[in-house]
Amino acid sequence: MSEYEFISTQTQDTLDFAKRLAALLQPSDVIALEGDLGAGKTTFTKGLALGLDITRTVNSPTFTIIKEYNGKMPLYHMDVYRLSDSSEDLGFDEYFEGSGVTVVEWAHLIEEQLPEEILTIQLRHTGDDTRKIVLQPKGPRYEQLCKELFS
Ligand SMILES: Nc1ncnc2c1ncn2[C@@H]1O[C@H](COP(=O)(O)OP(=O)(O)OP(=O)(O)O)[C@@H](O)[C@H]1O
Ligand SMILES: [Mg+2]
Repeated sequence: MSEYEFISTQTQDTLDFAKRLAALLQPSDVIALEGDLGAGKTTFTKGLALGLDITRTVNSPTFTIIKEYNGKMPLYHMDVYRLSDSSEDLGFDEYFEGSGVTVVEWAHLIEEQLPEEILTIQLRHTGDDTRKIVLQPKGPRYEQLCKELFS
């Protein structure tokens, strides 16, 4: 499986990178965001939202598992960290196959429910303000997307 890397040296870098990715996204794209607490998953999602012309502030959906934002196309922001039963089906497929882009923080917790083709993005702490962002595309759609993003 191919991997693509981006080094972010400040919050703004992560926002800008996510914004560039957003420009290439299409309805029904699904992104899995992985990384420790504070790695920057929500920050990355904020960047995606900016790129989709979403004006509402995106924050961690702590008490709701799924939040929906409207922009150029809808953004479905999920954080499944606090989902007590990971096999519980909250109708995720409706989002994955919907007319917007889905972003799932802590996606591996609902691994069995994720679509087969997905773009996994790992944010790794490498310092206070530095992050290594690793993209792992699964399926031709996301391979192509990464090629474009890194061309
Ligand atoms: N290069 C960077 N990229 C992203 N965030 C950074 C960077 N440097 C510093 N930060 C800071 O790290 C914090 C990341 O918090 P954020 O809420 O995005 O993480 P998270 O992965 O969503 O955490 P949680 O697991 O709690 O949901 C923010 O305060 C952000 O400003
Ligand atoms: Mg978060």
